[in-house]
Amino acid sequence: MNEESAENTNESRAARPKSEAFKEFIAQQWADPEDVHTTAIAAASFAADRRARLSEQFPGERIVIPAGDLKVRANDTDYRFRPLSDFSYLTGLGGDHEPGAVLVMEPREVPPSRPGATARHVHDATLYVIPPAGRDNEGFYADPRSGEFWIGRRPGPAEFEAMTGIETKPLKELPGGIRLSRHPLRKVGTALSMMRMVKDEYEIQQMRDAVAATIAGFERVVAELPRAIAHKRGERVIEATFDGHAREEGNAVGYETIAASGPHATTLHWIRNDGQVHEGDLLLLDAGVEVESLYTADITRTLPISGQFTEVQRRVYDVVLEAADAGFAVARPGAKFRDVHDAAMAVIERRLGEWGIVPDHEDPEAKLYRRWMVHSTSHHLGLDVHDCAQAKRDLYMDGLLEPGMVFTIEPGLYFKPDDLAVPVELRGIGVRIEDDVLVTADGVENLSAGLPRDADAVEAWMARLRH
Ligand code: GLY
Ligand code: MN
Ligand code: MN
Repeated sequence: MNEESAENTNESRAARPKSEAFKEFIAQQWADPEDVHTTAIAAASFAADRRARLSEQFPGERIVIPAGDLKVRANDTDYRFRPLSDFSYLTGLGGDHEPGAVLVMEPREVPPSRPGATARHVHDATLYVIPPAGRDNEGFYADPRSGEFWIGRRPGPAEFEAMTGIETKPLKELPGGIRLSRHPLRKVGTALSMMRMVKDEYEIQQMRDAVAATIAGFERVVAELPRAIAHKRGERVIEATFDGHAREEGNAVGYETIAASGPHATTLHWIRNDGQVHEGDLLLLDAGVEVESLYTADITRTLPISGQFTEVQRRVYDVVLEAADAGFAVARPGAKFRDVHDAAMAVIERRLGEWGIVPDHEDPEAKLYRRWMVHSTSHHLGLDVHDCAQAKRDLYMDGLLEPGMVFTIEPGLYFKPDDLAVPVELRGIGVRIEDDVLVTADGVENLSAGLPRDADAVEAWMARLRH
């Protein structure tokens, strides 16, 4: 199905009449549209607070936050729309109904209330949206990107205003001279990354929901393992099971699912997922449900496909678990973000040293053991899987942990099948264990503790789900 246009040369498609009589008829006899969205969304008051905190940091400066536009997948087909995360953060809007929208925070000076007092700087927020085409507008049935006939009904300005509490106007009223880029100004982006590092109460609940939905997805995958083993592309069975679950229970997956069986687990972002799933191998599943508010989990478990680890698989698994536990042990308010990584890596260094696979080197900074874990142990998590990425390095890696932060702890070991530096028995084994943690007043809470972590518990859990 695609749009009929005057230039269209494909005669086999149904033609849309061009007659005036048709245009008149299709514009008439529709019931009056009713507003569907008449109340504030749950995030509205939190988003208002976030805007106020952003406003304080940019007195006298206009702040422009675009929702982003539809993106072409191929030819005349778009990807499903997802607003940019900063837009969602400041409006509270998730969903897919605001392509092209722009949030503008216009600075205003409030004169001093009495002589001698100083003026206050505030911002007035306005949301500019593409309004739905009226029934008397050809776009109603002729515009496949915004017409109700093609994409369904979109909220109008009054509904956006009711949902967000932000004054909302048609996009064509956007003041001239506002330069739209995909991302807000760099310094605004940096400020938002810093703000987004500490989650508010609403966000923490969204993260809990995302983790719960993800855990349920992992359970569905384990129940489907027999079908995956029997299938010629078992990794796709796993991906489809998880991704289908994410669509059923949330908005989508928060990133492409990594369903990596056997040696594929040694490719960090294996998303091709076209391999077979064999009984004696490990399955590394790294997946997250993005809930309707667009917050995502990011969890990895490495599972023995047969239900039981072999001795060598368990040996690797136990080192990764010990590294993860070491990361958990140092994570608390006041610790540096990078301390978590350092604690996990110290375990990897020590254990691989004991195994005798790390060559001696006079420079301790050579860190040759990093050959088997080239990624870092943690990243912030929230609206984006790699959240807060525009934060300054000194405030991210060297920043101090604070209550309300949510981040991953995800050490791994990856022995590639062609790695001649390790014994044959290790080659082709990849293990990652990834949990999502919330910094509390005096430590951390493992949000993903509902999924078993230690090898015995993983085996028992799999046995339960498969019978
Ligand atoms: N799933 C990507 C990551 O763990 O960072
Ligand atoms: Mn991660
Ligand atoms: Mn991950």
